[in-house]
Amino acid sequence: MFEQGAVGDNHFLGDVQRLRVTAQTMMACGGEPADLLQTAMSAEIACVLRYSMIAVSADGLENEWVATECAAQAADERGHMAKLAERITELGGKPDYFAANLATRHMAAEASKGCLPRLLQENLAAEQCVIELYRELSTHFAADPKTRALLDHIRTDEETHTSDLEDLLQTQLI
Ligand SMILES: [Fe+2]
Ligand SMILES: [Fe+2]
Repeated sequence: MFEQGAVGDNHFLGDVQRLRVTAQTMMACGGEPADLLQTAMSAEIACVLRYSMIAVSADGLENEWVATECAAQAADERGHMAKLAERITELGGKPDYFAANLATRHMAAEASKGCLPRLLQENLAAEQCVIELYRELSTHFAADPKTRALLDHIRTDEETHTSDLEDLLQTQLI
């Protein structure tokens, strides 16, 4: 489990960390499969919002590849959200697209000159937390191969996101 102090002002990480803790609590208490998948779907909604905000606001900055990369990641996250919604429905649940309590909804992650390294570091920390969420959910769904395959597939995409972010952080960001 993450240390509370590791979150700081990273509200994106705060959101996914809270969702991970919620999932851990549900798993310990025998929560419904659809409710467990909803924690991951809510994390994906936070990711869609976060990357979309950065992609739009970074457009036109000197590091234009950051906007391009964030737009591509936002598209991936929307795909993850849709696949989870589909599986939640198959399991008899009702996907919640609103995810009301996300701090990411209220905290603008606008890219401006000079802040890209911080924003990308925050994304990296949140992605690492999302990967752990998927790892834990996958273990929990060991007896449900279809759900487990979906979770593992999404986790592989998230691992690609973290390495893409690490690559971006190696570049000369302005
Ligand atoms: Fe995702
Ligand atoms: Fe991701």
